[in-house]
Amino acid sequence: MTITGSRIATPKVRTCSDDPMLMRKTLAQFPSGVVVLATEPDGQKHALVASSFMVGVSLDPCLLAVAVQKSSETWASIKTSKSLGVSVFSQGQGGLTRQLASKNRAARFEEVAVEVHDSGAVFIEDASLWFECAVYDELEAGDHWMVLLEVKQMGVSGNEPLIWHGAEFRDLAKNDTIAVKQ
Ligand SMILES: Cc1cc2nc3c(=O)[nH]c(=O)nc-3n(C[C@H](O)[C@H](O)[C@H](O)COP(=O)(O)O)c2cc1C
Repeated sequence: MTITGSRIATPKVRTCSDDPMLMRKTLAQFPSGVVVLATEPDGQKHALVASSFMVGVSLDPCLLAVAVQKSSETWASIKTSKSLGVSVFSQGQGGLTRQLASKNRAARFEEVAVEVHDSGAVFIEDASLWFECAVYDELEAGDHWMVLLEVKQMGVSGNEPLIWHGAEFRDLAKNDTIAVKQ
């Protein structure tokens, strides 16, 4: 809603059928972190960058979720992997994020510092958080798969996370201007 002086103006209601890009453009204004699902199931590293990452789906079992486009060739290659590394990008890793999401799949890991676990899970060095996961379920959700991941191990580096907002990478800023009543 737009507040103009003392009047409240109701915005024109638009739907996805008015504009097929509306959902994409609207959701671009929602801030999120960005992750990469990475694994080496066949001697070759695969990366799937996603901003549709959802934490706190379930605590018992520990489940995370990510929405993956049905057209993703990478998902088709990694979905049966025993183990997936999920790295949450940290501040300053915007260029790396774009590289790992680039069309040239063979070049995604060029000069990228990673750690590979015995399970095949691949982690990005200096990421903000990491989770080692197994695929728990894959639910059909329109043109995406809603993928549930069960967390086997996790860690926090202390590096600030990268923020994705308005189709740009941003840093997380602290807002200390609001006094919190104790
Ligand atoms: C910032 C950013 C966020 C993205 N988020 C998603 C996402 O949530 N889900 C998804 O399926 N693809 C997402 N993508 C696109 C994929 O990373 C990838 O480019 C796409 O799946 C095509 O490559 P593939 O066929 O190798 O999977 C995102 C890309 C970028 C750069």
